[in-house]
Amino acid sequence: MARKKIALVGAGQIGGTMALVLAQKNLGDVVLIDIPMTQGMPKGKALDIMEGRSVINSSVDLQGSTDYSAIKGADVVIVTAGFPRMPGMSRDDLLDKNCGVIKTVAEAIKENAPDAFVIVITNPLDAMVYNMQKQSGLPANKVIGMAGVLDSARLACFVADELGVSVEDVKALVMGGHGDTMVSIMECVSVGGIPVSQLMSKEKFAELAKRTAGAGGEIVNLLGRGSAFYSPATSAIHMAEAYLLDKKSVFSCAAKLNGEYGVNGLYCGVPVVVGANGVEKILEVKMSAEEKAAFDKSVEACKKNAEWVDAHT
Ligand code: NAD
Ligand code: LAC
Repeated sequence: MARKKIALVGAGQIGGTMALVLAQKNLGDVVLIDIPMTQGMPKGKALDIMEGRSVINSSVDLQGSTDYSAIKGADVVIVTAGFPRMPGMSRDDLLDKNCGVIKTVAEAIKENAPDAFVIVITNPLDAMVYNMQKQSGLPANKVIGMAGVLDSARLACFVADELGVSVEDVKALVMGGHGDTMVSIMECVSVGGIPVSQLMSKEKFAELAKRTAGAGGEIVNLLGRGSAFYSPATSAIHMAEAYLLDKKSVFSCAAKLNGEYGVNGLYCGVPVVVGANGVEKILEVKMSAEEKAAFDKSVEACKKNAEWVDAHT
């Protein structure tokens, strides 16, 4: 059986990291794509990883190109094309700059890889994945946004550190938009199967939830230039793996809601089941009254940006 083909549109910090992780996992052949002004950069990153394959026991092929046609027939397309934020910027400040980029990429996917499973990473995430699905016309179950996996992993990290336990034994769930309004669902956080509510106070959990919502900005300020890229890269590969290996994985991601949670036609972070058919199920979880109010507020934030996209594309 031929190896799968994974196209990475955007060969920057996250794109390059994803290429290495994909090679290490032997998940499929990789093509890195970027804009012509980057000249040999995509090819250079691909060749760099290719030359190290014997050391990581990898036999996949990696290529780089500045021509969108190189994504032809891709099984998965992961999109980081666009601009990251700088210190002092919110993700929403990228709306104008990245909206046009995503439209261009969506048209390229429609033409070259209409059967692909598309994972959008570009910010502002919920608006950009909405834009991607709208402009590409791909079915909603094949277009999702990476955010909830990262945000839930960040919460798991903070809970593990607070309790002095292995982060491998912490399962967490963050929902809503990928921004300040994201919502950590306490009842859906467990430590070795024990509900976190039995191990810490609501007040302490709220503190960790607040850090989670600000975790992206914390790293932006530390880096001074650009934003997080290692954990976003591994989060996106986790999602791609669920599709490529038909894992029926359950995780939070930006999915198009069609009545679930009382929301229609919007992308927002919710728990889903992902397998070979893309989003195979959207799971509706119970929330506290406080969490539901916060989720509704987050949906409104996603709606406002989606309306901006509709008005400007
Ligand atoms: P980066 O600047 O390192 O990489 C972006 C790449 O996109 C650059 O190489 C740029 O040349 C390329 N690009 C720009 N326009 C393009 C086009 N039309 N076609 C193809 N490539 C194009 O940035 P990064 O750190 O990799 O982040 C990429 C995006 O991901 C940013 O928008 C950032 O805010 C976002 N991000 C999202 C999350 C999330 O959780 N969803 C996490 C981290 C970063
Ligand atoms: C950021 C990513 C994490 O902008 O969304 O920080």
